[in-house]
Amino acid sequence: MSTTKWTRAIAPGITMPMLAFGTYRLRGETCRDAVRDALRCGFQHVDTASVYGNERDVGEALRACHREVSERIFVTSKIAPSEMRSEEEAAAAIAGVNERLGRTPDLVLVHWPGRDKESPDSERHRDARRWTWRALENALKMGQCRAIGVSNYELSHLRELLQFCDVKPAVNQIELHARFPQTELRAFCESVGVHVVGYSPLGVGALLDDDRVKAYAATIGLRPAPALVRWTLSMGASVVVKSSAAERTEENFTAISDLDDDFVHEAAEKLETAFASERVKFCWNPSSVR
Ligand SMILES: NC(=O)c1ccc[n+]([C@@H]2O[C@H](COP(=O)([O-])OP(=O)(O)OC[C@H]3O[C@@H](n4cnc5c(N)ncnc54)[C@H](OP(=O)(O)O)[C@@H]3O)[C@@H](O)[C@H]2O)c1
Repeated sequence: MSTTKWTRAIAPGITMPMLAFGTYRLRGETCRDAVRDALRCGFQHVDTASVYGNERDVGEALRACHREVSERIFVTSKIAPSEMRSEEEAAAAIAGVNERLGRTPDLVLVHWPGRDKESPDSERHRDARRWTWRALENALKMGQCRAIGVSNYELSHLRELLQFCDVKPAVNQIELHARFPQTELRAFCESVGVHVVGYSPLGVGALLDDDRVKAYAATIGLRPAPALVRWTLSMGASVVVKSSAAERTEENFTAISDLDDDFVHEAAEKLETAFASERVKFCWNPSSVR
């Protein structure tokens, strides 16, 4: 299994491992154990967020392993909608990420294209996005992170950002799997040089029992979970997958097994086509955020 093949340059001088371990809903000892297991399996990228309430656990788990291992682990975190009320508040939030992790995050994202406690059509989201991005650009200048990006941004949010940003977002982290392939958004991101990171590749587990997924997995010679993770990779996107169990995390890591990429891509496209009339989004939906 080659891990070096699965990296992507996302910003000048910044290379990101494409397979990330997700930590949503993992806290305390469960989180620390799960991150430790993921690193032991070979994951080199950990995804956390201010709203997950586990950045301290992630930082602790990283510090518990050998220094030369922890130093090369790539960490993504995210600024919460509740931290977007002013540029000062967003700046403080980034400082908070550094403090809780106990290290500089590699990548910091705007988690959601709007602030909390506002209706989706509120005009305040636009201002919140703008000053939060300014705070991220400043944090990048000050060395409080190595790259900056967004998450759950739709076409309209990205177009707006690209008009005023000084630093282009390195990535857009979005829900992405065979039942929600985000074809138009992915093509746009590619055209403007924003790398796509897909989350919930297993449809939060819901896709695993589907017979079409099982058939696709058998075709490419992987178990259903890693086959779905590979589906996202085969679309050219990075991927974040989560498990609280060491054996499932180990299984998920086999997604980067040496396989014929063209053969996998063809099978992955067939799976996407099989779901063409049954698109489903399993997570929160940013499409109505003005
Ligand atoms: N930016 C955003 O807004 C956003 C939104 C959602 C997620 N994310 C990130 O993406 C990560 C992954 O997404 P997700 O956690 O929503 O969903 P997911 O990775 O698609 O699925 C996780 C679910 O699948 C189960 N699972 C994992 N591996 C398995 C395996 N090999 N066999 C059987 N079941 C398996 C897990 O159960 P067990 O834990 O019991 O194994 C869990 O219930 C998150 O943890 C988070 O870091 C980001």
